[in-house]
Amino acid sequence: MSDQTSMLTGRKVIVTGGAGFIGSHLSERLVEIGADVICLDDLSAGKRTNVAHLERHNNFHFAEASVCDADAAMDKLFEGVDTVFHNAASKKNVCLIDPGKDLEVNAGGALNLLQKAMAHNVRKFVQASTGSVYGEPQIFPTTESHPFEPVSYYGVSKLGGERYVDVFHKLYGLDTTILRYFHVYGERQESNEFGGVVSIFLRRITEGQNPIVFGHGEQVRSFTYVKDLVEANLRAATDPKATGQAYNAASGIRVTINELAKGMLEILDPEGKLSVEHGEPLVGDIMEFDVSNAKIREELGMSFEQDFWGTLRAALADKDAFLGYKAA
Ligand SMILES: NC(=O)c1ccc[n+]([C@@H]2O[C@H](COP(=O)([O-])OP(=O)(O)OC[C@H]3O[C@@H](n4cnc5c(N)ncnc54)[C@H](O)[C@@H]3O)[C@@H](O)[C@H]2O)c1
Repeated sequence: MSDQTSMLTGRKVIVTGGAGFIGSHLSERLVEIGADVICLDDLSAGKRTNVAHLERHNNFHFAEASVCDADAAMDKLFEGVDTVFHNAASKKNVCLIDPGKDLEVNAGGALNLLQKAMAHNVRKFVQASTGSVYGEPQIFPTTESHPFEPVSYYGVSKLGGERYVDVFHKLYGLDTTILRYFHVYGERQESNEFGGVVSIFLRRITEGQNPIVFGHGEQVRSFTYVKDLVEANLRAATDPKATGQAYNAASGIRVTINELAKGMLEILDPEGKLSVEHGEPLVGDIMEFDVSNAKIREELGMSFEQDFWGTLRAALADKDAFLGYKAA
């Protein structure tokens, strides 16, 4: 733990979406650091089992609530809070089915939490955002100053959340930081249709099914290991340079979906029983990512895992833990 990060020890923090994929890793690390962690989740996508291993710690508390709740129970949770790590979201595929839900949760939920943060003198607000706010990138490498042209309901609603965060910083001086995540992978990511491609391929291969690549498969992704995002959150929360800033939190590596499918088959199906299948292209699928992470590296001293295959191989060693079938 860096000196800076240790400032969270003993402080009360809220992790929204804490029973989800990224939020559960962040909660885990904050419990280790000795923060007093409120894991707030409505369990619409997250699972209690994702944080079951944390329940025995005195400094971990689970609160089943929605980020849209503005009631007295929410005020009670916010009493004495030092930092909010806002990770809850209505996810991309859910938005396609119910666009109103993402507006309510991703934009409205952020506004509600920011109001609570102001009312309770919260020191720091860290907002999880997404590369989807840029839409189909036009400028490479894509830096934080890339124009916002979201091409999905999800991107629009997450951009709404970001804009509220900016307003609270500029109007009221709330100490905020926005982290834009890209293609996160790691243990406990959902492997259903709302999940990540690594988990979906893993589930299919483990079930003896071919991984299905949508379209030609030359789409590039900047896969980022979940533990790097935990570190980015901690730095954002504790480094004064992060105040009022937005950062691309991406590894910067470039892997195509074809390479991912073939590489995972080599790891998980060494006898070569399965092969890569191609399906119809996905509407709105973004083809090219070349994300600049220079700002977060230079300003906050972040470094990202660059050995994608080594990290993936190690993480896949326990398939059940990766798929969240057993508590970590
Ligand atoms: N996973 C990625 O590749 C990725 C990429 C870009 C951005 N993000 C962002 O990272 C954050 C975490 O995503 P994740 O991948 O861990 O997703 P996830 O679905 O695993 O976690 C999100 C959590 O939010 C909870 N939630 C949803 N609506 C809620 C509400 N109204 N109130 C309280 N909790 C609610 C869900 O139950 C879930 O546990 C999100 O803000 C997402 O937009 C993720």
